[in-house]
Amino acid sequence: MLKVQPPSIDEVAALKPGAILISFLQPSAHADVVKALASQKVTAFSLELVPRISRAQSMDALSSQAGVSGYKSVLLAANRLGKFFPLLITAAGTVTPARVLVLGVGVAGLQAIATARRLGAVVEAYDVRPAVKDEVKSLGATFVELPLEAQEGQGGYAAQQSEEFLRRQRELIGDHVATADVVITTAAVPGRRAPTLVTRDMVVRMRPGSVIVDLAADTGGNVEVTKPGEAIVLNGVTIDGSRNLATTMPVHASQLFSRNVSTLLLSLVKDGQVKLDFSDEIVKGCCLTNAGELVHPQAKALLETSKA
Ligand SMILES: NC(=O)c1ccc[n+]([C@@H]2O[C@H](COP(=O)([O-])OP(=O)(O)OC[C@H]3O[C@@H](n4cnc5c(N)ncnc54)[C@H](O)[C@@H]3O)[C@@H](O)[C@H]2O)c1
Repeated sequence: MLKVQPPSIDEVAALKPGAILISFLQPSAHADVVKALASQKVTAFSLELVPRISRAQSMDALSSQAGVSGYKSVLLAANRLGKFFPLLITAAGTVTPARVLVLGVGVAGLQAIATARRLGAVVEAYDVRPAVKDEVKSLGATFVELPLEAQEGQGGYAAQQSEEFLRRQRELIGDHVATADVVITTAAVPGRRAPTLVTRDMVVRMRPGSVIVDLAADTGGNVEVTKPGEAIVLNGVTIDGSRNLATTMPVHASQLFSRNVSTLLLSLVKDGQVKLDFSDEIVKGCCLTNAGELVHPQAKALLETSKA
């Protein structure tokens, strides 16, 4: 069974023992589904857990869908903004380009920068991982340098930041937020609530008519006032907390997602049969349950916590 969202308990019960499931499973949010998959003897692969190694890039559904969201976030912002994005020199006067600030430069952030640049905006971007500075520059944007220590975690992800770090970050980024016409926030730390980068006071300092799109809305939001799934207006500033933007571009989101899933499935097949090789980094990395067992250490830890 190949799915986008985790199955319901009833769907799991309908699966044959030995069946294979590939889907986003969000094991940290669906312990009951993971337990049901194990007891039903389903071999389940969680797309979130596909290792981010070169060989698995074509199976990386988190990246393909984040790219769609990053692109669409800028179009949403441009649609709401009562201004042009590009510099225009016309007989009726000169239009200055929109200023876009992107906070968090992972896959979605990079696509947001590229899209805003293509529309002609002046773009600034910031991330707690200075390693992304060259990528930001190569897209024609400016990397915002803050006098803060880097927060590099493992595997190219950000480390969890202290509340003191985030307080100083908010202080330092405040002027950049205040002068932006559009802020796109994408900051995340795997397995944690999204950090708060923009407070209510910072929103109030922005010019009326400015727009924030908070791509972290689903995991708690990077903006203090974000309402997941809604667009609200505070002091004339729109804060768009749209969820799962990939669903708003179904053609290409589906095309990329299906390629991710089929590549993962076909990598498990040898001579027309599914053969699982647990010495393979990809199988070991994203297989959650197999033959009635929880085979993923993270899932095991999760279920032990939920029992306690
Ligand atoms: N196959 C591959 O090699 C591959 C594929 C995809 C992604 N990656 C890498 O994985 C990493 C994570 O990408 P992702 O898009 O999943 O990231 P993510 O969704 O986990 O986080 C988005 C960004 O938010 C940043 N962030 C976290 N806290 C922040 C804060 N307080 N302020 C500002 N920014 C903050 C992170 O550093 C990250 O760049 C990147 O280095 C990416 O290049 C590698």
